[in-house]
Amino acid sequence: MLQIERLTKRYAGGTVALDQFSIELGPGVLGLLGPNGAGKTTLMSILATVLRPTSGSVRWKGNDALENPAEIRRVLGYLPQDFGVYDRLTGVEFLQYLGRLKGLSGRGLRASVDEMIDLVNLRNAASRPLGGYSGGMRQRIGIAQALLGNPEIVIVDEPTVGLDPEERVRFRNLLSELAHGRIVILSTHIVSDVEAVADRIAVIRKGKLVRIATPGELLAHAAGRVFRVVVGAEQLPQLQQSVAVSSISRKADGVHVRFVADTPRIGGAVEAEPTLEDAYLLTNVEAA
Ligand SMILES: Nc1ncnc2c1ncn2[C@@H]1O[C@H](COP(=O)(O)OP(=O)(O)OP(=O)(O)O)[C@@H](O)[C@H]1O
Ligand SMILES: [Mg+2]
Repeated sequence: MLQIERLTKRYAGGTVALDQFSIELGPGVLGLLGPNGAGKTTLMSILATVLRPTSGSVRWKGNDALENPAEIRRVLGYLPQDFGVYDRLTGVEFLQYLGRLKGLSGRGLRASVDEMIDLVNLRNAASRPLGGYSGGMRQRIGIAQALLGNPEIVIVDEPTVGLDPEERVRFRNLLSELAHGRIVILSTHIVSDVEAVADRIAVIRKGKLVRIATPGELLAHAAGRVFRVVVGAEQLPQLQQSVAVSSISRKADGVHVRFVADTPRIGGAVEAEPTLEDAYLLTNVEAA
């Protein structure tokens, strides 16, 4: 159990990146969803004990993880957003190096590294220097190092950035398999990244927890608040000013607009089945 209580982070210069953020986590995947600058990386860095909060507490199995970080560090796998790699090392060498830092050695280390290489589909590149890896390959090595040593807590900050659609799907499947019995925290600003895998979604905005719910609960909350309408191109600007538009597509019969609002607002609008994208947009509308 990971208990995060009233975490606040004020950076030098005055930006309040986290504002009394509280959440309690058990096993499963938490999708941390929020726009750029919402405070996702700040929260994750604090949980990974590489950044100290201004105030608030983090408890792991009842113990203060900020005062005594050794215990949480032992069970932690972390992929930072700005993950740097050592260009001269090969994929295998790099994972072995980090595995040793995590306390693995000998046959156990070799077996873990081997397993991770296959897990992230890098077998063919494993003995090549990281300097020659593409962005997506680097990201996959980053995911592999986070999972080394079977961590109880996995924190991955925007792990799907740079992955192609096929690898995204692979990664999602990997996460769902991994989630059993451990805490996985995944940040993203892309709804579809968490839609299929997250047990719960925490929406963060301006350092505050806006909502925490299952995807199903978010969808249920949006029911009756999503509409679609076909308008002329000249009506579009006005509509965009009065409602939160979730999608626009131009077709032969006019502009098809999807929006969230409490009432249909405009003649001809009909209720639509909410998607998680709509539900997320609604949380932003309600928080604003
Ligand atoms: N080292 C720092 N010094 C000063 N301000 C910072 C620092 N790091 C982050 N901030 C500010 O804190 C706020 C939250 O940033 P953070 O990186 O946590 O957001 P994020 O949700 O991870 O955003 P992104 O989606 O862009 O990764 C932003 O306003 C950012 O400019
Ligand atoms: Mg970030």
